[in-house]
Amino acid sequence: MAQSKHDAIERNVALLIVLTLLAVSVGGLVEILPLFFQKSTTSAIDHNGNALNVKPYDALSLAGRDIYIREGCYNCHSQMIRPFRAETERYGHYSVAGEFIYDHPFQWGSKRTGPDLARVGGRYSDEWQRQHLLDPRGKVQDSNMPAFTWLARDLKVPDIQARMKAMRFLGVPYSDEEIENAPKALEGKKEVDAVIAYLQGLGKALSNL
Ligand code: HEC
Repeated sequence: MAQSKHDAIERNVALLIVLTLLAVSVGGLVEILPLFFQKSTTSAIDHNGNALNVKPYDALSLAGRDIYIREGCYNCHSQMIRPFRAETERYGHYSVAGEFIYDHPFQWGSKRTGPDLARVGGRYSDEWQRQHLLDPRGKVQDSNMPAFTWLARDLKVPDIQARMKAMRFLGVPYSDEEIENAPKALEGKKEVDAVIAYLQGLGKALSNL
C-alpha cells in the first residue's frame, strides 16, 4: 500500500515537484527562521552569552566600508574565521555571529585570494595600511593585490547622513547627534583614511575574551 502511494507520487511530475518544494521549504525555514530570533545571532553577545564590545561604524568607518564594497575587496578577502585550529592560529579567535549585528550587508565572503580580514584591526599601523593599499608590493614583494592608487583622492560622500539613516532603519542605533555631525567627521579626509578607519576597527569586539 505504502509503496503504491509512493509510486503515484513518483509518476506524477507536478505532484513530485510540489511535494519536493514543500519538503525543502519546511526544512529550510526550520533552519533559517530561528536565526532571526536567537539571542546569540541578533544581539551583541558571544556564543557563551558574554557581552561583546560591538559598536556601530562611525561615519568615517562607514564611508570606508562602502569603499571596501565599491572596490570589491570582498572578492579576495573573507571576514569570517572558521572554528578550525589552522584558522584560529593564523587569524585569531573564530568569528561569532554577534560581532556582525551592525553589518548590513555582512562581508563574510568565502573567497580568500588574500588573507581573512576579520581580525585585521590593529594588526598594522595606519601608516602601514596606507602604504600597503596604495602600493601593496612596496610592503609585500610578491603580493598580487592591486594597487588602489586612486584612494589617495578626497573623500566625497555627500549622502553620508542618508546612508546612516538607512542603517538606522535596519536597526543600527545611530543617534540624531551622530548623524548630524557625520559630514564634519568626513571633512578633509581622503578615501584611504576611511578605508583604514574601517579596517582598524575590524574584529575588535571580541578583545575582551
Ligand atoms: C586580487 C585580490 C585582492 C584584492 C581585490 C584585494 N586584496 Fe588585499 N590582499 C590580497 C593578497 C594576495 C594579500 C596578501 C599579500 C599582501 O599583504 O599584500 C592581501 C593583503 C591585504 C591586507 C593585509 C592582511 C594581513 O593580514 O596581512 C589587507 C589589510 C588588505 N589586503 C586589504 C584590502 C582592501 C581594503 C582591499 C580593497 C580596497 C583589498 N585588500 C583588495 C589580495 C587582494
